[in-house]
Amino acid sequence: MNRRYRKTIIAGNWKMNKTISETKAYAEAVKPMLGKPKWCEAVILVPPVNLQAAVRAFKDVKISVGTENCHYEVSGAYTGECSADMVKEAGAKYVVLGHSERRAYYNETDVDVNKKMHAALRSGLRPILCVGESLEERELGVTMEKISYQLKSALSGITAEQIRRVVVAYEPIWAIGTGKTATPAQAAEVCGAIRTLVRKTYGARVARSMSILYGGSMNANNAAELLANEDIDGGLIGGASLDPETFVAIVNASNQD
Ligand code: PGA
Repeated sequence: MNRRYRKTIIAGNWKMNKTISETKAYAEAVKPMLGKPKWCEAVILVPPVNLQAAVRAFKDVKISVGTENCHYEVSGAYTGECSADMVKEAGAKYVVLGHSERRAYYNETDVDVNKKMHAALRSGLRPILCVGESLEERELGVTMEKISYQLKSALSGITAEQIRRVVVAYEPIWAIGTGKTATPAQAAEVCGAIRTLVRKTYGARVARSMSILYGGSMNANNAAELLANEDIDGGLIGGASLDPETFVAIVNASNQD
């Protein structure tokens, strides 16, 4: 973290978990435990059907709300999809784009992710853009090439004004949901490389103020060590965010003076 220049963000990615009543119960559980947000913005990312309930439930708790995907078209014959305007109007501040599960299970391409980035930014959302390599790619030594390709294609055509609303999350695929966390050094190396790539296109000021998160089996035990790195500005947390106590422990850890 580097609090002088950028915001720390701890975002819980709930994926396909929790109903509306479970969302309300979670907010009630979190309320008495969460310290005053000082350095860190806490975010919960929910399925679109839970957005309105989540916004209401987390309002007094000072947790921002977002969702986990949106379509790139404004409207049309896309059965089962939600547009960026829809999720924005339902209360989302953030939207996760390019998550490796979307890429793997729903065949989302880099071109799709780029189109979604444009749609989200047009609607006034803050995209959390996910990039990350597979284990095979890491072992082949092409991690940086993969990250650079994903980042460059996702950001294609994104203006200097829009980039200020973009958050990037480095999520090595081999660390997601596996209990295998990247070492702080591995995570910091890639997050630093992402900042360098952003600097090359958008300049030092933009790169310095961009929040770059790490995601992949982050939990209450490893968060502090990961966040101690200058280039890791927060976390995108899946499994561990489902438990209110664990999520609050991570938020409070990143909120310390
Ligand atoms: P995990 O998921 O924390 O369960 O590994 C992270 C993510 O997919 O965003």
